[in-house]
Amino acid sequence: MRTLIKDGTCVTASDTFAADVLIENGKIAALLAPGTQLVALDRTIDARGMYVMPGGIDAHTHMELPFGGTTASDDFHTGTVAAAHGGTTTIVDFAIQSKGSSMRAGLDAWHAKAEGKAAIDYGFHMIMTEANPSTLEDMAAMVREGVTSFKMFMAYPGVFLVDDQQIFRAMLRAGELGALITMHAEIGLPIDVLVQRALAQGHTAPVYHALTRPEIAEATGTERALALAEMAKVPVYMVHLSAQRALERVMEARDRGLPAFAETCPQYLFCSEDDLRGDPSGPDGEWKGAGYVCTPPLRPRHHHDHLWRGLANYDLQVVATDHCPFCMKDQKELGRGDFSKIPNGMPGVETRLYLLWEGVRDKRISINRFVEIVATAPAKIFGLYPKKGTIAVGADADVVVWDPEREYTLSHKTLHMRVDYSPFEGRKVIGAPAAVLSRGELIVERDQWVAGKKQGRGQFLRRGTFNL
Ligand code: URP
Ligand code: ZN
Ligand code: ZN
Repeated sequence: MRTLIKDGTCVTASDTFAADVLIENGKIAALLAPGTQLVALDRTIDARGMYVMPGGIDAHTHMELPFGGTTASDDFHTGTVAAAHGGTTTIVDFAIQSKGSSMRAGLDAWHAKAEGKAAIDYGFHMIMTEANPSTLEDMAAMVREGVTSFKMFMAYPGVFLVDDQQIFRAMLRAGELGALITMHAEIGLPIDVLVQRALAQGHTAPVYHALTRPEIAEATGTERALALAEMAKVPVYMVHLSAQRALERVMEARDRGLPAFAETCPQYLFCSEDDLRGDPSGPDGEWKGAGYVCTPPLRPRHHHDHLWRGLANYDLQVVATDHCPFCMKDQKELGRGDFSKIPNGMPGVETRLYLLWEGVRDKRISINRFVEIVATAPAKIFGLYPKKGTIAVGADADVVVWDPEREYTLSHKTLHMRVDYSPFEGRKVIGAPAAVLSRGELIVERDQWVAGKKQGRGQFLRRGTFNL
């Protein structure tokens, strides 16, 4: 199969240039002078007036995650189809090593969820709920199988929380294996006390999710995780960083030359604690805020500028989504009358590029930085580069043809995520995918799925070890 994307402007993390992109057998075969005459093409895609960029890589999703007494509403099929509609062609999801169980069992369970379902390529991180001799041993097998990053939690006591000694042991082991530890850095034990106290005082509304998880809890967790990584002499990656002071801890570490990396998510750039307060005059009142319950919580608005600056200045490397959708009906409902029982998480895998493009339009980030943040940097950090994350000869032809003028209104009625609300309902965005290719196959064109096969066309990605 030979496809030519012609007359577009190619954008990578470093360059913007006019070229026609020839795709053969799923790979980028050549970048040609515009107008080069070719024969025997199976398909030509006209990209005049459009940007030709690497497909998005979402390094943080939770398809079908069991959490808070329910399960995230997107599975690998619905979630990856939605991702593709939004210009994302790779996800890295979190498998779970459950307490008392092995990583092997966790990995098998996640393969079973994804295989035969995913519509785009996918990899896995592994959540570690224990660092004991057996799980530390398991880490080597995971790395051999291409699961080269591990997530540990300072939050969620009794569920995911691990103590500093376990984190440190896992970091040392990761250092031996060339793996990367990613950290959920909020100190969960004092947070739990604040939660119990708020409930005892009769505070049950969604906004108390934020009021009981203060910024300092994340800043302190971040500082502690960075200290442990420094002691272990290993790189570390902070997931879903939400706030100014946590960012400042990362900046200090980076300024001292430490290999500290951090991601933020669209919800922390575009939503705020005000959303958690709901709509007191609307039909759902303060309950509407339940749709915005995620962890770390949404912060007051002034954090947005700090995070955008962090992205522009290379202090934050990645925007992932932490896609973890729960329907308002039946799922978020579990926490009516007790904010601590609202399942944590928001939908986002489909809307990341639309939203981030606003940063380009508003001149907060350059177009090359956009590509770096949504594709190239996650590919490099998580061992997928240069197969994924760039427009270069030999790379997988995961490509988004991006129409910078196309207007789109975000609504759960037209988005493809399997969830009954959108945190961005009614928001008008300018800039949207005109075509999305995955390994050279045109899968989405003008918001329509056009590939023959959908279910299970995605392939598992064995990722490389950390190499930056
Ligand atoms: O609210 C969130 N973030 N839900 C998913 C679990 C996590 O901590 O990433
Ligand atoms: Zn987390
Ligand atoms: Zn997450």
